[in-house]
Amino acid sequence: MSDINTYFQVHAQEFEKDLCTLLRIPSVSTDAERKPDMQACAQEVVRQLLQAGMEEARIMPTGGHPAVFATSKPRPGRPTVLVYGHYDVQPETPLELWESPPFQPTVRDGKIYARGTTDDKGQFLIHLKAAQALNAIHGELPVNLKFILEGEEEIGSPNLPAFIEENKDLLACDVLVISDTGMYAPGIPSLLYGLRGLSYLEVEVKGADGDLHSGIFGGAVPNPALELCRILTALKGPDGRILVPGFYDKVRDLSPEERAEWATLPFDEEEFRNSVGCQGLSGEAGFTTLERRWARPTLDVNGFLSGFTGEGVKTVLPGKAMAKISCRLVPDQDPEEIAHLVEKEILRLAPDTVEVKVRYHHGGRPWMTDPTHPVLEAAGRAAEKAWGRTPVRVREGGSIPIVSTFCRILEVPAVLLGIGLADENAHAPNEHLDLGNFHAGIRASAWLMEELAAQAAAK
Ligand code: BES
Ligand code: ZN
Repeated sequence: MSDINTYFQVHAQEFEKDLCTLLRIPSVSTDAERKPDMQACAQEVVRQLLQAGMEEARIMPTGGHPAVFATSKPRPGRPTVLVYGHYDVQPETPLELWESPPFQPTVRDGKIYARGTTDDKGQFLIHLKAAQALNAIHGELPVNLKFILEGEEEIGSPNLPAFIEENKDLLACDVLVISDTGMYAPGIPSLLYGLRGLSYLEVEVKGADGDLHSGIFGGAVPNPALELCRILTALKGPDGRILVPGFYDKVRDLSPEERAEWATLPFDEEEFRNSVGCQGLSGEAGFTTLERRWARPTLDVNGFLSGFTGEGVKTVLPGKAMAKISCRLVPDQDPEEIAHLVEKEILRLAPDTVEVKVRYHHGGRPWMTDPTHPVLEAAGRAAEKAWGRTPVRVREGGSIPIVSTFCRILEVPAVLLGIGLADENAHAPNEHLDLGNFHAGIRASAWLMEELAAQAAAK
């Protein structure tokens, strides 16, 4: 494997250049005007897959933005690894908060800044570059390698479940590998064995037929903004417990072993508070900050809109109020069931002076695997070689709903080898990726393929 290290040293800049080419394409999946960019990005991914030595790479239509599929030259008897990632990115707004333009990759202090660096172009690219290196050195890969890179992850992968179902044979594999999560801390790689799920809702409260003069009508006509606030605050108690009946029924308790293991992880509460910049932390009573983020469900308001929000004053009684609500879910909660319970409670709390409508946007199941699964151990050895440190076992609070869909339909285990860091501003201005982790990630991916091949051979 010292060949690999030499190869990387020689090609590091070229790898960064290819990353920059991807980052320059504004592949914002939620923006209809960026449809041509989505196509261009998919095409560039195909070009880079072929350049990495994949035997076949092609754009595949879905009901929405296309997916990219690739496969290596078959090696009978070798295990098949399927890499999943997403080439779409979140919108770049608010633009004025970026220190360098979001689609002009810029390196500062060993970090590369652009939308999509950590989520997820920089992360999925490590596997392409690992394949490129292994192909260049050995003329072949140690495994059968497949890629499925989608263009709709950031909008909830609406078309991917059907795509996986329809292309089950094409996607058949022994293990799924994903890099779209984080490392525990700088220098500490992690083996991820759990992700939270999601249930996303929108509530609309209607009072009068339109906005009214708050002096002429105020005090006699209901205020939908206030009524919505009353409903929202009634969903959670002062101890952080969600008051929706049945909400916790299917929540799997943390095991004493898990709690004990997490308690040994280096974590400084004050540093965490400081890093987010709030005056004090809050959450469900009886749980630590890590437990609250990784293993407990949430109910949060993601956005609120009502009345006059411009500069200065306008004396108005709003006709409508709207809130977006998301619940992060843990095993074994079901997104649709939770949406139904929350909707029922909102409607129960609604006063009859206003009209309340609840709409379910999308959701995804939580995912959890056995932290001692052999494929995770193989990943642990690969990560240890790349970062020089034994990885820690963690869960994460974010969601990649498609992971549990893949595992269920393809009946395979998943390895989540994240190289992002929590403070790299995913979804926010000044998103970036540590270039040291990008290069270590490429080596880790190459070693992971070798480890998985060796593991299969030893069976
Ligand atoms: N890469 C993230 C998910 C993530 C980040 C998981 C960090 C764990 C740690 C992914 O692109 C994402 O943002 N997912 C969305 C869910 C989706 C349904 C919109 C999320 O978690 O909000
Ligand atoms: Zn994301």
